Amino acid sequence: MTRAELISHALCARKNSYSPYSNFAVGAALLSKDGRIYTGCNIENAAFTPGNCAERTAFFKAVSEGVREFSAIAVVGGPAGTDNLDLCAPCGVCRQVMMEFCDPKSFEVILAKDPEHYEVFTLEQILPMGFGPKNLVK
Ligand code: THU
Repeated sequence: MTRAELISHALCARKNSYSPYSNFAVGAALLSKDGRIYTGCNIENAAFTPGNCAERTAFFKAVSEGVREFSAIAVVGGPAGTDNLDLCAPCGVCRQVMMEFCDPKSFEVILAKDPEHYEVFTLEQILPMGFGPKNLVK
């Protein structure tokens, strides 16, 4: 699975974004360590707070199917109706969900405009000094 392929999956998932309130469409593609892909889009709600980000949709799909080990996520987002995207950084809540299941030093967060234009960060880079499950071990 190349980064370009993962980004293509995220772009496909973005097409399913349900974002009538922000008109900001996001797609994500999460790669498990055993090579499976879980996609997600943002899903908004008339009551606003129930809305979910694309990244968490992907994580929750995977975890709900028993998968908990991941190596990378590709994220694409921007105003609905355009494919001319800038990089879209995950919100703080999504970073914290990544921290629950991913190794901060090796998990790759791929922020993409398209399959050829992207930047790669580790989870540690986008969530320095993150609090995770290891902090609760005595
Ligand atoms: N959003 C995501 O799905 N992922 C991000 O990385 C940033 C923001 C969504 C939440 C909301 O539906 C819309 O984008 C505008 O904030």
